[in-house]
Amino acid sequence: MSTPRTRRLARPLLAAASLLALVATSAQAAQVNFVTGATGNAINVFKEIFKDWEAATGNTVNIVPMPSSTTDQFAQYRLWLAAQNSDIDVYMVDVIWAPQLADNFVDLTEAAKDIAPTHFPSIIESQTVDGKLVALPIFTDAPALYYRKDLLEKHGVEVPKTWEELTAAAQKVQDAERAEGKKDLWGYVWQGAAYEGLTCNALEWVKSNGGGQIIQPDGSISIYNDAAEKALDTAKGWVGTISPPGVLSYMEEEARGVWQTGNAVFMRNWPYAYALGNSADSPVKDLFDVAPLPSAGGDTTSAATLGGWNAAVSRFSPNQEEAISLATFMASPEFQKKHALMAANLPTIVSLYDDPEIAAAQPIIPRWKEIFLNAVPRPSAPTKVAYNEVSSKFWTAVHQTLSGNGSAAENLELLEVDLDELKGTGW
Ligand code: GLC
Repeated sequence: MSTPRTRRLARPLLAAASLLALVATSAQAAQVNFVTGATGNAINVFKEIFKDWEAATGNTVNIVPMPSSTTDQFAQYRLWLAAQNSDIDVYMVDVIWAPQLADNFVDLTEAAKDIAPTHFPSIIESQTVDGKLVALPIFTDAPALYYRKDLLEKHGVEVPKTWEELTAAAQKVQDAERAEGKKDLWGYVWQGAAYEGLTCNALEWVKSNGGGQIIQPDGSISIYNDAAEKALDTAKGWVGTISPPGVLSYMEEEARGVWQTGNAVFMRNWPYAYALGNSADSPVKDLFDVAPLPSAGGDTTSAATLGGWNAAVSRFSPNQEEAISLATFMASPEFQKKHALMAANLPTIVSLYDDPEIAAAQPIIPRWKEIFLNAVPRPSAPTKVAYNEVSSKFWTAVHQTLSGNGSAAENLELLEVDLDELKGTGW
């Protein structure tokens, strides 16, 4: 009986107290609005680590969550930046966006002069446009082939090194497990929706078949070739056999959903899925491991698309000093170590790959150093401001092929014509 009465009294008191606190600190303290995609547990992890910065500076971070799709985020960011939105202070930006969004962000060269040399030079370079450092690295990304150790062992299957082996292994385990009653089990899940993630997946298929990088680093268009065609035909063969028909609308989280509930033998995904897959309540905890993505065999090699996220400060932010401080914090060893420990995101600071605590908590991280250092960049540097259009034409051609609308050969030929036209006399 007494509980409700106490609560009724306590509420106004608490409200008044926090209002006082706000007034007392508002002269120096700022609220920094940070916009980021919400993949996996990203927002909660950020919130937790930001507490350190909030305690040290007296400022607060307000996280503005975006959809998980990088393509949707990009569209929203472009609208906000075009409107010179002054509500958002710090943008979390994909590694591919620097050339397209550079003009909207503050040059961080001076602010980062002490920490920049501790990062991998290639990552700093990827965020540098015409000498301007447009964003500071938060984490880098390179995908893995996730596999169920228990299921491969049970069915006497080796970890596949080629796409052919992967296809056969996935089919074998899927068939055998379904015969034992696991009706919902699929062989292989990946990202097949029509968005940037499909560009990443398909670039890996094409490159690991010896079919080039869509557009080469020198700007030449290379996508219409036999190896690329073969790569897409192989992937089309998975849809509805070892991969659910719905894979054509999967992004990272949909693939992880099937995988983490124990309903996939193999998955292509980024390292964040490693931490989540091993979380306390995960049905696949301790049952899986990771390997490099397969190649086509012979003299071809595995290809992982280079991903990653960075912090950029808006030119239109009224809190630039605090925003720069937050961006710099995200590129610090303190932040990146916690982030690696909690979320298995790959650090961009060289020395963290030798950190024993990180290696013990998230063994994928030291193992993935070589993979990300050899990862294949998407053609965002050579195509400059046209990259989003290039990528959307590519993922559309791939999605059409996977959906059975036109053959790989037809769609790639049309794509090449389209890209030629977009390029005109130069990117
Ligand atoms: C990951 C990568 C990012 C990529 C995206 C595609 O978030 O880090 O670079 O664009 O996946 O879905």
